[in-house]
Amino acid sequence: MDYSLLFEPADLKKIQLKNRLVMAPMTTISGEEDGSFSEQEIQYLGQRAEDGIGMIMTPACYSHKSGHAFQRQVGCHSDAMLNGLTRCAEAINKHGAASILQIHHGGNAAKSEYTNSEVLAPSAVKNRRGTSDLPKAMTEDEIKMIIDSFGKAAGRAKKAGFTGIEIHGANTYLLQQFFSPFTNRRRDQWGGDVDQPGRNLFENRSRFAREIIKAIRAEVGDDYPISYRISPEESDPLGYSTKDTIALLKIIVPYGIDFIHVSSWDYHKGLRSDVPSGTNPTMMIKNAFPYMPVIGVGGVMTPDDALSVRKQVEFVAMGKVLMLEKDWVKKVKSGDTDKIRLAITSEEERNQLAIPDRMKEYSKHFFKLDT
Ligand SMILES: Cc1cc2nc3c(=O)[nH]c(=O)nc-3n(C[C@H](O)[C@H](O)[C@H](O)COP(=O)(O)O)c2cc1C
Repeated sequence: MDYSLLFEPADLKKIQLKNRLVMAPMTTISGEEDGSFSEQEIQYLGQRAEDGIGMIMTPACYSHKSGHAFQRQVGCHSDAMLNGLTRCAEAINKHGAASILQIHHGGNAAKSEYTNSEVLAPSAVKNRRGTSDLPKAMTEDEIKMIIDSFGKAAGRAKKAGFTGIEIHGANTYLLQQFFSPFTNRRRDQWGGDVDQPGRNLFENRSRFAREIIKAIRAEVGDDYPISYRISPEESDPLGYSTKDTIALLKIIVPYGIDFIHVSSWDYHKGLRSDVPSGTNPTMMIKNAFPYMPVIGVGGVMTPDDALSVRKQVEFVAMGKVLMLEKDWVKKVKSGDTDKIRLAITSEEERNQLAIPDRMKEYSKHFFKLDT
């Protein structure tokens, strides 16, 4: 099989990417107590860069302490994080991979046991995963504080040497909570478009994302690559559809987004019945943005899977398989595709894969990890 489409170089702003492969952001719950990147996490990401993946995305990193959503989540919320951030960027960059810091705020998925403060969200609506506290609807000042924290976090990413950043606008976290009519019940300039005839439904609900992009651009300038990760649709009928996502992206992309990362668990399938058969949400977004690089993700394990995504979009991201396999690129290039590891069966193997200790238990929920 000819896999050359996966290995074509690409230009992103002034950056040359060596291929079309991306390591998807994956939380490892392995940060230090204070939110710094730990040595284990840095080694793990560096090892995947060494394999030859073109772009490595970090685990979600909270921009502000109030966004802390998982135990031992990494943060980029203060200058005290700069040392770990710099070592992380270096560990990736030295192998010729682009390093992308994913900047995040949990919103209603944050937990007061980590934040030591009230949980903040657009409206007092509980997280649909049902795991978090009832949040408090953010005041205007709190909204501005979080927007500012995204700008400052991006400034730190640049200072630390990351090639670029990704805004985490997906997976039900704060940016998505502002966009979704289910979680945003506000009637002010940050929401309230839903049932007002004649209004652009996304004018207000896109404002938080727009202001974040503006704050980031003010810190990092025009040449710094920015990815926006978005969940294309919500399964809940009260939620939004891929058509809505396209309308939102049409508003926010001109504020300075360089590539769109469509988050899904299965690239080829939509969650809602309004995705026409024969297509998928990522394709629908690609068709609406022919001029934008798009990253597809979800269920890619083998090079054949990767090729089927690459035929539709510019970049292919992989999550789980890159935790299980440190030599994915090498094996594809040498023709040993049947040797790609799809499970871990011994402690020794796990050690070779540099998977951080704390990730071991946690990752059992996601795939076979027998040790
Ligand atoms: C253990 C684990 C942690 C994850 N953490 C993040 C994260 O920090 N940020 C994010 O945007 N997505 C996160 N995801 C979603 C992945 O980026 C990816 O979209 C998903 O795993 C589907 O791709 P895959 O089938 O190749 O794993 C995580 C997924 C897993 C399995």
